[in-house]
Amino acid sequence: MTHEICCRACGDHPIGVFDSGLGGLSAVREIRALLPHESLVYFGDTGRVPYGTRSRETIRHYASQDIRFLLSHADCKAVVVACGTVSANALDDLRAAGTVPIIGVIDPAAEAAVRATQNGRIGVIATPSTIASGAYERALLAAKPDLHVTSQACALFVPLVENGFVDPNDPIPYLTAERYLAPILESGADTLILGCTHYPLLAPVISRVLPGVTLIDTGREAAHSLSALLTEYGLHTDSDTTGSADFYVSDEPQDFARAASRFLGLDADEGVPIVRRVNIEAY
Ligand code: DGL
Repeated sequence: MTHEICCRACGDHPIGVFDSGLGGLSAVREIRALLPHESLVYFGDTGRVPYGTRSRETIRHYASQDIRFLLSHADCKAVVVACGTVSANALDDLRAAGTVPIIGVIDPAAEAAVRATQNGRIGVIATPSTIASGAYERALLAAKPDLHVTSQACALFVPLVENGFVDPNDPIPYLTAERYLAPILESGADTLILGCTHYPLLAPVISRVLPGVTLIDTGREAAHSLSALLTEYGLHTDSDTTGSADFYVSDEPQDFARAASRFLGLDADEGVPIVRRVNIEAY
């Protein structure tokens, strides 16, 4: 990280988090639990979700607009790319153009999986474009070349989560998971990276299909990396009050606000968060 980056990012600025839609809120939940005094600005590209089935070129274009919004509108001191698909396909571009520290989810999750595995067999599940990028496999094998890695794209998991099909006793998500996870079960993996922001909501379903397998939540690992990075660059806030959280989306805010309560695990009496709409095409 350059001196220039460090100086620009000083002060009590918020942390930016973005995702193709709702799923990155699982990372927000982890960041708020670990760093409650930090203020957050979240952007979910609900008007253009899903990213996971699009070309690398389109993903890069969308991601560059998303981060420009966070940097120009909210002047964030660091950005967490909560989206697995963007982290796998556009992180280098974003870092090359960025002026603040940028954290993706791939390396933190791969490092956590390497620490967790006992038998050297790791499974990765993610969107089709994340799996096609080979980013997780590269990160895992770079950390430990003798690992056995089994990767599986799970295209139907995102729409299941978006539509609330997450009950482990519901045959629809259960049978879908059983079909997708068969190669992981067969591989004998003892650790599975949930390589997409939405998948932590399916954790109970996945654990029913793969009992005893350690699940790696990318949002949680990214939150820990963020904390280490803020320490490294002296960027932790001095505030000792609870940080604010501002939410922006590129489509209808009402549905997002309701679903956000579910993702953030808010109680009914905590209400729904205020969500604003932004024209992301203008960035
Ligand atoms: N946020 C995406 C990811 O983590 C999943 C949803 C999508 O396909 O855009 O890969």
